[in-house]
Amino acid sequence: MYHLIKPLLFRLDPEFTHTLALRSLKFAYDLGFMSFPTTSENSIINYWNLSFPNRIGLAAGFDKNGDYVDQLARLGFGFIEIGTLTPKPQVGNPKPRLFRLPNQKAVINRMGVNNKGIDYAAKRLAEINYRGVLGINIGKNRETPNEHASHDYLQGMRKLWPFASYFTINISSPNTPGLRDLQNEDLLLKLLADLKHEQHLIQKEQNKFIPLIVKIAPDLNDAAIDMLADIFLHTEIDGIIATNTSVNRFNIHDKQINETGGLSGEPLQRQSLHVIKKLQATLNQRIPIISSGGIMSEQSVQDSFAVGADLIQVYTGMIYEGPGLIKRLASQSRHVQKRVLA
Ligand SMILES: Cc1cc2nc3c(=O)[nH]c(=O)nc-3n(C[C@H](O)[C@H](O)[C@H](O)COP(=O)(O)O)c2cc1C
Repeated sequence: MYHLIKPLLFRLDPEFTHTLALRSLKFAYDLGFMSFPTTSENSIINYWNLSFPNRIGLAAGFDKNGDYVDQLARLGFGFIEIGTLTPKPQVGNPKPRLFRLPNQKAVINRMGVNNKGIDYAAKRLAEINYRGVLGINIGKNRETPNEHASHDYLQGMRKLWPFASYFTINISSPNTPGLRDLQNEDLLLKLLADLKHEQHLIQKEQNKFIPLIVKIAPDLNDAAIDMLADIFLHTEIDGIIATNTSVNRFNIHDKQINETGGLSGEPLQRQSLHVIKKLQATLNQRIPIISSGGIMSEQSVQDSFAVGADLIQVYTGMIYEGPGLIKRLASQSRHVQKRVLA
C-alpha cells in the first residue's frame, strides 16, 4: 500500500509530508481504524527493569512534542522516544530544512531542534493512554552555553520525570552549534556527573528509577569512542544510543548532498555499526546499546545485533519503507534470543 502512494508523497515538500502523515495517522486512529498490535507474553524483553514487547523503537525527532504517542504505538513499536525537548520552546532553522536523497535512501535535516518545550510536552504526556516504554529525549536550548548545559538537562529531567521510562541525553545533534563539544572529556564528565547526581536525588524523592541514556554522534574517531566508553563506565551511565545523524557525506553524489545538516538513512549504517562495535570492544555488553542509523530492513537489524546492539531505533526507514516496516522488523527481532558479538 505505502509503495503505491510513495511516489505521490515524494512529490510534496518533505516536512509537509511528515506533518500530513502524522495527521492522517491521527485521523485513522480517531476513526477506530487502528487495532492494537499483538504481543505474545513470552517475547517480552527486559532492560533497566522495563518490559519491551519487541526490540524495535521509534527514534527521536519523529514526534518531537509527544503529540502522537498513542497513534504511533499502534504501528507496533516496542518502545517510543519523543523529543528532543528543550526547557524553552524553539522554532528551529528557517525552512526548507529537510531534504530527501531518494537514490541513497537517505535524508539530510537541519531542523535545529524545533520543539514546543518541556511544559507543553508535560501537558500532552499527562493525557496519553500509552503505557508502554516511553523514552524522552532532552536537550539544551540553542543559546545556553555549554558550561551551563547541565542546567537545561536537569530542568528536563525534573519536569518530565513522572512521564519517562528513560531519558535520552542528546549531546549529538549536529544542528545546535557547539552541542557536540559536550562529547569532549572535561565537559562530558562534568555534565554526566551532574545528571547522575540528580538522578539519584529524584529517585530517592519519588521512589522511581529512570535510566539515563546518552546519544552520541557517528562522527568520532576511534580514540574518541574509546574515551567515551571509559567515561560511560566511570559515570555509570545506564545506556547508549549510537548514533545520531552524520555530518559526513560518504562520497555521495546527489543534487541535495551539499545541504547543511545531519545525514540519516542507509549510508549512515556502516558508520553507526562501527561506533557500536568499537564501544563493545571496551564495554563488552556491560551497558545496553540502542542502535540508530540506517535501519531499513531485516538485514540491517541483523547487522546491528551482530555487532552487539541490544535494541533498535528507526526513523528514515519509515520514510522509505513505510509504517509496515515496523511490524516486519518487530516480528523478526522477536526471534532474537541472545546477543551475538561479531
Ligand atoms: C528529520 C529528523 C529529525 C531528527 N530530530 C532528532 C532530534 O530532535 N533529536 C535526536 O536525538 N535525534 C533526531 N534525529 C535523529 C534520529 O533520531 C536518528 O538518530 C537518525 O536519524 C539516524 O537514524 P535513521 O537512519 O534511522 O534515521 C532526527 C532525524 C531526522 C531525520
